[in-house]
Amino acid sequence: MANSRKSRVPRAIGRREFLRAMLVSAGLVPGYLRAQSALLRGNGATSFAFQTPASKEAFRELVTPNADFFIRNHFGTPQISADSWSLEVNGLVSTPLKLSYADLVLMPSVRRPFTMECAGNVAGGIGVGNAAWSGVPLAELLKQAGPRSGATTVVFHGADSGDGEGVPPNTHFARAIPLERAMDASTLLAYEMNDSPLPADHGFPLRAFVSGWYGMDSVKWLARIEIMGQPFQGYFQQKQYMAIRDNGERRPITRMLVNSKFLRPSEGEEIPVKTYRVEGVAWAGERKIAKVEFRVGPVGTWQTATIAASSAAMTWTPWSYDWHIPGPGKYTLEVRATDDEGHTQPDARDPDRQDAYEFNTPHRITVTARS
Ligand code: MTE
Repeated sequence: MANSRKSRVPRAIGRREFLRAMLVSAGLVPGYLRAQSALLRGNGATSFAFQTPASKEAFRELVTPNADFFIRNHFGTPQISADSWSLEVNGLVSTPLKLSYADLVLMPSVRRPFTMECAGNVAGGIGVGNAAWSGVPLAELLKQAGPRSGATTVVFHGADSGDGEGVPPNTHFARAIPLERAMDASTLLAYEMNDSPLPADHGFPLRAFVSGWYGMDSVKWLARIEIMGQPFQGYFQQKQYMAIRDNGERRPITRMLVNSKFLRPSEGEEIPVKTYRVEGVAWAGERKIAKVEFRVGPVGTWQTATIAASSAAMTWTPWSYDWHIPGPGKYTLEVRATDDEGHTQPDARDPDRQDAYEFNTPHRITVTARS
């Protein structure tokens, strides 16, 4: 660590880093951390379903405010004090690490806009959001720890456990990703969400963020990162988050599929008969959005919507379409997107699927136009 830091070309220090350095030199870090952890308590309730965003305006924002971001917990939210918390990196490594919150916060950081979607999100559902995540690239820690030969798998162990959802007693939440994906510069250990310390429900003090993969791999309340040389056998790896077909075939859920949704109008809304600007967002995980199409369903012709010139991988892309409403009446509106590898959202769910993941059929809404 010390050597690799010394060999790095010095760079301009950012506002956050300056602030952190000041806090440390003034001896304020422990108090600051205590204040944050007390401030950011969740209610500790176990949530087996998505909690509804506080405001239905949330999706009009390109960045989802923290208070409106969906929460998906298998167990209750653990209350963790940053003062006593530490992160261990061990297993098949040359140098096991143990880092405090201050150690991590003082490392060079990155800030990235990433979209997270839950693998169980349904068409047009609230289980997707877009935030700016700040933290340390996981590769930096893995390089310090030095994966030994034969290392293939990186396991994120969360601090939450329990027996909800029929899991075996005392199971904790843990998920694994391939070492190669862990070393990708876009895999983060995030401690800030939209420039605030992670809220308790979103993983305070630290979470993994595997951008472009469904949300289950972005393990919250990280306690330990374990490097292994064989597949991880954890309950949430082997028993859940599998695509299962009628013939029994099983495939792990990993990358997000292309998907899209309306932001306006919303389901059931009454709108005036005129030219109405329909708006929404589209996302495709590790791939970019190439095209978004809108139609008045269920049999209208797909029309190409306008997408932001800044379409980028990992973060959602806004789109819009000026819909000339022909007259009063009830209309079904549909949106679908295509990624830059040519995958288009399918019209219907594969009937052979037995699991409840990777829903990406077009978002359909019904609105009433009034004169
Ligand atoms: N991490 C832990 N430790 N425990 C969990 O239950 N849920 C996962 C993931 N990380 C989970 C977790 C799932 S299924 C999703 S979709 C995302 O967290 C949701 O992240 P969020 O609640 O911050 O939106």
